[in-house]
Amino acid sequence: MEQLINIAIDGPAGAGKSTVAREVASRLGFVYIDTGAMYRALTYEALRHQADVHNEEAVMNLLKQMQITLGSEADTGLVLVNGKDVTEEIRFSEVTGNVSYIARHEQVRMEMVRKQQELAKANRTVMDGRDIGTAVLPEAEVKIFLTASVEERARRRHEEQLQKGMPSDYESLITEIAERDRIDSEREVAPLRKAEDAIEVDSTNMTAEEVIESILEIVGKKAS
Ligand code: DC
Repeated sequence: MEQLINIAIDGPAGAGKSTVAREVASRLGFVYIDTGAMYRALTYEALRHQADVHNEEAVMNLLKQMQITLGSEADTGLVLVNGKDVTEEIRFSEVTGNVSYIARHEQVRMEMVRKQQELAKANRTVMDGRDIGTAVLPEAEVKIFLTASVEERARRRHEEQLQKGMPSDYESLITEIAERDRIDSEREVAPLRKAEDAIEVDSTNMTAEEVIESILEIVGKKAS
């Protein structure tokens, strides 16, 4: 496995990328990088400063003043902005509802990609996002495109929220997820799409453990 450096996992919202990417990283002893958390951290800052999420210049000004730190332990999802813990806040529904607008800005993406490439240079990584295999790490040794049906993704999110004791409505989740898919896939800059050399894994009828094992198998084959 010595020669393996980077594993890219892309796919639509709610396909289970972060769960499996974190676990794959942990089992391989790689660093897990959640790039969605970086866009979420910026969105949280924009909302906190009451900046217009559609105003690229205002958002860029905030990004220039931000230091985003991701937890170094593979099993923690710790996210810090200028030293302040925002791990929980970046999952708030207001952030989720606005992050696609922030992720649409070209300059924002360029700066995020630069930061992500730097992180990947320093470590062996499992990086998850939307444009990892296509734009951030086009040279990644393993590329996975993880999908699941909209209904299944909504069902998983619904159960997750109920388990956390949060209110949840399955039908609205379907609409929300489909809308995020649409914005992420139709945006002009680095839209969500499968890299030509990515292997598609459809997790609709798979457990998280089955997905993890199938990715580890793909990694193992590449390494042998
Ligand atoms: O994976 P997530 O739901 O935490 O991602 C949050 C948003 O950020 C999502 O709407 C798409 C966007 N995103 C992106 O455009 N590029 C990435 N590499 C990661 C996330």
